[in-house]
Amino acid sequence: MSTVIEVNNFSFTYKNAQRKAVKDVSFTVKKGEFLGIIGPTGAGKTTICRGITGIVPQIFPGKFEGEILVQGKPTQEYSIAELAGIIGYVHQDAESQLLMTNIEKEIVFPLENLGIPREEIKERLERALRLVHLEQYRNRHPYYLSGGQRQRVVLATALAMNPDILILDEATSEIDPLGAEEIMAVARELNELGKTIILIEHNMEELALYADRIIVLEDGVKLAEGPAKQILADREMTEKLDLYPPEVTQLALALLKKGIELDDIPVELTEAEALLGRVLAAAGRGGE
Ligand SMILES: Nc1ncnc2c1ncn2[C@@H]1O[C@H](COP(=O)(O)OP(=O)(O)OP(=O)(O)O)[C@@H](O)[C@H]1O
Ligand SMILES: [Mg+2]
Repeated sequence: MSTVIEVNNFSFTYKNAQRKAVKDVSFTVKKGEFLGIIGPTGAGKTTICRGITGIVPQIFPGKFEGEILVQGKPTQEYSIAELAGIIGYVHQDAESQLLMTNIEKEIVFPLENLGIPREEIKERLERALRLVHLEQYRNRHPYYLSGGQRQRVVLATALAMNPDILILDEATSEIDPLGAEEIMAVARELNELGKTIILIEHNMEELALYADRIIVLEDGVKLAEGPAKQILADREMTEKLDLYPPEVTQLALALLKKGIELDDIPVELTEAEALLGRVLAAAGRGGE
């Protein structure tokens, strides 16, 4: 798999801030990967996304150290608009920024600004509406949509730019659980279509279900990086950072503490079911 994002010793200090928001962070993202980033509030997750999308330092100025390469080229050598064509960035309060009186206009407006031919705009609009399953709401005012649907409009607007990479920065944290599920389903679908996804989440159940690999940040520093299972089942770290592992993981860890032998630490329900089956079978055999 080819590398699409390379973050090399990236540090950033916002203008007028006393301390670094991100300190010497390095990682790479491969094409088609589903990467999760977790960490407590203020850990620097959003600042890293802003670095990747060029918003830092082009919109939020400050001291930028190290380098971030997108498709092999430093972000500073791209304009924000060029990067928006490669990376779709959907963040927490994006849905409050809908400008237009209906969904179609919302999706089409940035494309018209880029001078994209009318026929192509139409194709991209249809594709984006289809991907987020909002075709039947195309003429609706955003006001009459649920939070989840509004967030899907934002997602469609990003997708209409045809990005290879999609960053969801706590994009589901302000919406109802059903809406969040809808967004995650679209993210998974896009990943299956070959798009690279970066998911920033507090909810570790979501990460367990979707992410191949997880990066843990604290206080601007990268603490750990590894397969989702390894990170989520690391009790010492999750406790230290006040992160809550998936419930099935917590249950397994509690059983281990009671001296019950387990051959796996599950992070997903299906794994927990399989593990429980084995534990019960072993107990049954022991009682015979
Ligand atoms: N525009 C800004 N100007 C100055 N400091 C900022 C700015 N944005 C963020 N910071 C600071 O940078 C640090 C990292 O913030 P960042 O938003 O990247 O963290 P985060 O991990 O995304 O947190 P959260 O989980 O709350 O979204 C924090 O100390 C924050 O106060
Ligand atoms: Mg953030």
